[in-house]
Order: sequence, then C-alpha cells, then structure tokens
Amino acid sequence: MKIARYSAAMLATMLVAGNAQAVSLYVGQYKAGMVCAQCHGIRMPSADAPFPPLGGRDPEYLKTAIKQYRDKTRKSDIMNAIAGSLTDSEIADIAAYYGSVKP
Ligand code: HEC
Repeated sequence: MKIARYSAAMLATMLVAGNAQAVSLYVGQYKAGMVCAQCHGIRMPSADAPFPPLGGRDPEYLKTAIKQYRDKTRKSDIMNAIAGSLTDSEIADIAAYYGSVKP
C-alpha cells in the first residue's frame, strides 16, 4: 500500500513538472498544500506562529514577494530557503491559487 501511494505522488510530481506553461490553480493548490500550508495555512495561518496569511491576497503582490525571497532582495532565512528552488511558473501557480482562496 505504501508503494502504491508513493507512485501516485511521483505521478503527480511528473504531471506538475510537465505542465509548466499555463497558470494552474490545481498545481498551485497542490504545491501550497504540500509546502506552504505547513506554515501559512490555506485560509488562515497556522496557530500560534508569526506567519503572514496568504489566502485572498493580491496575486501580483505574492508573486513579487516570493521572487524577492528567491533573489534574496527580501531577507528571511526561512523564505529564502523555500523560495530558492521555485520556478517562475510555480510561483505564478501558487500566487494565483492563494489569490483565489477566500480568507
Ligand atoms: C517553515 C515555515 C514556512 C514555510 C513552509 C513557508 N513560509 Fe512563507 N513565510 C514564513 C515566514 C516566517 C514569513 C515572514 C518572513 C518575513 O519576515 O519576511 C513568510 C513570509 C511569506 C510571504 C510574505 C508575506 C507578506 O505579507 O509580505 C510570502 C508571499 C510567503 N511567505 C510565501 C510562501 C510560499 C508561497 C510558501 C510555499 C512555497 C511558503 N511561504 C512557505 C514561513 C514559511
């Protein structure tokens, strides 16, 4: 059972990697749920933590902020590390997804 679930995750990763062009809310939701939500939550930030909420924010603002973390023009040890490996299309997907979520 464990192996089957692992393959499904791999397949999802391949699908995600293959769909690099159009902004995809589905991809954004997948990535936000897997990574970002651990700290930022989806609708609300995780309890008792100083993480800014992202749901319902302006996607352009989110995109700019994430790229600034990636380029290290905005400093945050945590976010510099997390944003460092994101591609432009992943950033666009995640920003579009969070922008579409009602807080
Ligand atoms: C380990 C915890 C953690 C994870 C995981 C995480 N973040 Fe963050 N994030 C933070 C912290 C802490 C800050 C505040 C940093 C600062 O002071 O600039 C932050 C700030 C941000 C901001 C700036 C918000 C604002 O109001 O300006 C954005 C945008 C952001 N994160 C996006 C993301 C995205 C997208 C992901 C997933 C790819 C993610 N974060 C994953 C901890 C995390």
